[in-house]
Amino acid sequence: MSLAARFAELDQWLHQHQALWRAKPFTQLSLAWEADWPELAHWLRQRSLADAEAAHHRPQQLPAPEPFASLAVESARLSQLPRWQAASAEHLPEPLYRHIPGRKWQQITHFAGVASAGLQMPATRWVDWCAGKGHLGRLLAWQGGQPLICLERDDTLSQAGAALSQTLAVAAQHRQVDVLAPSCVEHLTCGDSLVALHACGQLHMTLLQQVVANQCRQLALSPCCYNRIASAHYQPLSSAAKVAQLQVSRDDLSLPLQETVTAGQRERQQRDRSMAWRLAFDLWQREARGVDSYLPTPSKPPGGTAQGVAGFCRSLAAYHQLQLAEPNSWTQLEQRGWQRLAQVRNLELLRGLFRRPLEVWLLLDRALYLQESGYQVQLGEFCPSSLTPRNLLLLAEKQNP
Ligand SMILES: C[S@@+](CC[C@H](N)C(=O)[O-])C[C@H]1O[C@@H](n2cnc3c(N)ncnc32)[C@H](O)[C@@H]1O
Repeated sequence: MSLAARFAELDQWLHQHQALWRAKPFTQLSLAWEADWPELAHWLRQRSLADAEAAHHRPQQLPAPEPFASLAVESARLSQLPRWQAASAEHLPEPLYRHIPGRKWQQITHFAGVASAGLQMPATRWVDWCAGKGHLGRLLAWQGGQPLICLERDDTLSQAGAALSQTLAVAAQHRQVDVLAPSCVEHLTCGDSLVALHACGQLHMTLLQQVVANQCRQLALSPCCYNRIASAHYQPLSSAAKVAQLQVSRDDLSLPLQETVTAGQRERQQRDRSMAWRLAFDLWQREARGVDSYLPTPSKPPGGTAQGVAGFCRSLAAYHQLQLAEPNSWTQLEQRGWQRLAQVRNLELLRGLFRRPLEVWLLLDRALYLQESGYQVQLGEFCPSSLTPRNLLLLAEKQNP
């Protein structure tokens, strides 16, 4: 199936079911779709927090009542992409992976292996976009012997990267550059092969525009943080997405990022406690105010969870400048917060079915934009999702460079 046909199918499906994936269980006590699908709502609401946790990474496999099962089949079909395998990188010199956490290094070796194998023409110069210390570009340049340009805003990272490149005798220039500035164009030529691992929203949208404007030869991009864009609404790049049925807000763009990274048990417990207490606060403030609406809570509430549930909720009330009558029992309110967390997480599994399809819709917009601009494009996964949920890779090459 062509990329355009695939995009059209996804667009229609996401648009048709937007009421299911736009509804947010965390901020609403009941969701509009529950009245249409009471059996599914009841089934999800009676499950435990541990049940939700077990299904979080693979909601498509949950044996939930209709329409969940049919949507799960479509979700899997519409978001299917090849899982590319990289030849294992062995006997690499230590400075290539110095100071890099294990999982990050594995992402880099998978990315480099897949990009080198997947791009047809040999690179003549690598450009690492938002390079950090330039670990990815350095690995590619070290393996292939090409020169490397690293573009990075943070001078400390650039300097640390330059020292590593020198140690390995890689012909690298680490330039301190704001890639969003118009002057960034000075750093690119049509002979360049650009790589970007986990460049956030606007940073990789600008990358795509620069690649096309400069007719650069090749691109390997793994996008991330789609919601970090300047505008309140997503501005599509391709002509297909510009006339799409689906209109995507910045808030929608956070849906693909909802898959939480596999955290340690302690970290998970802390995260869950903070969420359960926020939901306890939500129940308290709705009841005490007599107003059935959600009040947003700061990502780092003053005082944190160390002050206990009562202190936590009181500090959130103070944050909203509310003087609320105290609940009869904080213990009971906390229990209700935990119950609600279990319900929220299970109801969110329905949204979870749309997480990957929306991400693939966004990836296809990027791919179609490049295709319309004369590039041959391939899409796939560069590593297993256990290494990072942001494992999509777009490979593009100018057709007649
Ligand atoms: C998520 S990190 C990715 C770094 C590296 N590619 C990696 O995977 O480790 C994003 C990088 O972009 C850099 N950055 C953010 N805004 C930038 C800008 N406007 N111009 C250049 N670099 C920027 C940050 O300093 C950071 O090093």
